[in-house]
Amino acid sequence: MRIVVTGGAGFIGSNLVDSLLEEGHTVTVVDNLSTGKFDNLMGVKEAAKENRFSFLHIDIRDDAMLAAFKGKEQDAVIHLAAQPDVRVSVKNPVMDADVNVLGTINVLKMAADNGVKRFINTSSGGCVYGEPESIPVSEEAPRRPDSPYGVSKLVAEEYIRYFERTYGISCSTLALANVYGPRQNAFGEAGVVAIFIGKILAGEECTIFGNGEQTRDFVYVDDVVDAYRAALSRGDGEFMNIGTGLQTSVNELYQGIADIMDWEEAAAYAPARDGELDHIALDAGRAGKVLKWKPRTSLQDGLSRTVDWYRQNLRR
Ligand SMILES: NC(=O)c1ccc[n+]([C@@H]2O[C@H](COP(=O)([O-])OP(=O)(O)OC[C@H]3O[C@@H](n4cnc5c(N)ncnc54)[C@H](O)[C@@H]3O)[C@@H](O)[C@H]2O)c1
Repeated sequence: MRIVVTGGAGFIGSNLVDSLLEEGHTVTVVDNLSTGKFDNLMGVKEAAKENRFSFLHIDIRDDAMLAAFKGKEQDAVIHLAAQPDVRVSVKNPVMDADVNVLGTINVLKMAADNGVKRFINTSSGGCVYGEPESIPVSEEAPRRPDSPYGVSKLVAEEYIRYFERTYGISCSTLALANVYGPRQNAFGEAGVVAIFIGKILAGEECTIFGNGEQTRDFVYVDDVVDAYRAALSRGDGEFMNIGTGLQTSVNELYQGIADIMDWEEAAAYAPARDGELDHIALDAGRAGKVLKWKPRTSLQDGLSRTVDWYRQNLRR
């Protein structure tokens, strides 16, 4: 298939691109490198020689993206490019909506212009529902986001439904839990697993925001990649949670990573941050039925693999 991956130089996108190229697909990445890194795409050299990979250094909001695809039919779009940080969205909700809503509309327009049959969108299962009434939260639960980021993901979904009805594109959305694994930015504000590992490798104290008893659903990036690959051939217009259904507190997570890394220092604590939930875990039953997907990687195994990767690859 000819597949466009927006945000393909990012954490999840670059892991996905490697896998799609390995399967023999032809991939075009659109990324403005605002948080992604070209280094994440170093594994694509062979595919580039075979003309199966191209990189467009373009902002998804820009008309240049539409021009770049003119006359180049595509089979599928996997849309990952986003302003992905809850706290950035709280500080700058206009910029968040600009990228996540207007950017998504432009990507949908490109899909409609280029004969795309299948559009796979990315939402946040940890943010679109707000504080859930029961856990694990299913797709039937009301979506009442507590942050501008959650709102922008929800609004983008309405445009996706519009393009689906109007242009006959099959649009599925994967609502991801907290994804972790190789290539996540260890020096950013989001991505607690990568941040803890990065700090410990640097011999620095880790900070837990709040009392650490808040819980999250941590899902390994390879399992998330499996879900996108399955969504290329299964499902039609579905909104599906992608998570493990299991809650892990940030204190438990810290201890798990510290044990794997033989790190004995206690974490520091700081006040909880705006826009953060107390508890969440996602019921991925629909993805089980529709995509035949379930997570394969235990938290222990995923953390060990992630630590190994950062030990070999972390550069500041
Ligand atoms: N990582 C998680 O735990 C998680 C959880 C839920 C949802 N998501 C969603 O998954 C997607 C990928 O997130 P990630 O964790 O890989 O983040 P990331 O920051 O590593 O990747 C996002 C990519 O999008 C690119 N990008 C951002 N704005 C752009 C723009 N205007 N034009 C073109 N490219 C742009 C960035 O350069 C980056 O490469 C996002 O949509 C995010 O909201 C992530």
